[in-house]
Amino acid sequence: MHIWKKRSKEDIKKRVFDGLKNNINFYDSNILGLPGSHLDRQVFHQNADFLSNAPFLSTLIHNPNHIGCHTLGKSESFFRGTQEIERELIEICAVDILNAAPQSCDGYVASGGTEANMQAIWIYRNFFKATYQANVDEIAIVCSADSHYSMAKAANVLGLSIYFVPVTESDRSVTQEHLNHTLEQLKAAGKKYVIAIANMMTTMFGSVDDPSRYTNALEAHQLPYKLHVDGAYGGFYWPFAHPNSPLSFANEKISSVTLDAHKMVQAPYGTGVFLIRKGLMQYANTQEASYVEGEDYTLIGSRSGANAVAVWMILSTYGPYGWREKVLVLKNRADQLEATINALNIPYFRSPESNILTMKSSHIAPEIARTFGLVPDNHNNPKWYKVVIMDHVTMEHLLPLESALHQAQGSLA
Ligand SMILES: Cc1ncc(COP(=O)(O)O)c(C=O)c1O
Repeated sequence: MHIWKKRSKEDIKKRVFDGLKNNINFYDSNILGLPGSHLDRQVFHQNADFLSNAPFLSTLIHNPNHIGCHTLGKSESFFRGTQEIERELIEICAVDILNAAPQSCDGYVASGGTEANMQAIWIYRNFFKATYQANVDEIAIVCSADSHYSMAKAANVLGLSIYFVPVTESDRSVTQEHLNHTLEQLKAAGKKYVIAIANMMTTMFGSVDDPSRYTNALEAHQLPYKLHVDGAYGGFYWPFAHPNSPLSFANEKISSVTLDAHKMVQAPYGTGVFLIRKGLMQYANTQEASYVEGEDYTLIGSRSGANAVAVWMILSTYGPYGWREKVLVLKNRADQLEATINALNIPYFRSPESNILTMKSSHIAPEIARTFGLVPDNHNNPKWYKVVIMDHVTMEHLLPLESALHQAQGSLA
């Protein structure tokens, strides 16, 4: 491990309060030019006794603005104390979770997976424009049909074409044949540059793409490309279940990764993590942000420093070994559910070791789906229902589902 370690509560508290001390303090500092302040004191208690033991809530109340990207050198000096914690978090995610070389990645805490995916696509669109003088209509996004809808949203916002490669029904993978066909189609439509997306656990199936399938085909077709990994769901799970996965920065063909701490990490919403190899973030520089010290390289602009602190606190509480154990517990529960649905002959998909099980709707009574809050692939015409084994989905919650499935057997074909 490079810098990620398990820390005591006291250590975490000290680190966060030290960070806040190194920020400007809206209560005491004579800072007159910022359009921001601490949280409203009529509504949010500022002096409650418990706050001295509550580093996250204290950060929320102090309300540091982490505008910009803090791994590039210069940033707003007003909030340098908590920015330092965010820098450490980015390094933990890039190096200790995703096998990057130390100090080789930039990144920031985005509003979520959607923004982080869009940030990657925005950067690569600008990269192709700057490097190859590409027109926007010559750049295409290529991803599997199981990809998250944020890819379609990014294509829409950024004015790019998007090509969804079909996946096989049984193993949810993109075949070489389908991929070649898609690349031929897009070349025929005048596209010359590709922003490829590889999924590290898809939203509905937890399916995982083989990045070499994309890179081999793109290279064979002589299409310049950038490869982004969408680990919004799987980024804090898959690398622990599969330490040698090719979906990491050890794979030199991967340029950027999205992780979402507000899913598996149980951090507050607003904690997507965007990571990218050094040398690329600059393509998203908005020089017009001249009043921001260090300028802005992010889609979001102003954002809460408390979010970065929350993620750092959670990862530091567990440490890398504690995190591996957490993943193992979820995997074990998923193993148990899988054994039951196997015994009941319910057709399903599960990636190896994954904590999502997706069952064919033909074998799930709508009443069971409703009772247990199973999420369909399509609310109008469900073909699949998924169970996502999160922290709160304990065996006590899974057993009633298992017995309902048992009871329903026989009444459904
Ligand atoms: C694989 C994947 N990518 C992206 C996203 C988008 O994340 P968010 O809802 O945080 O914007 C999700 C959300 O479920 C996801 O599962």
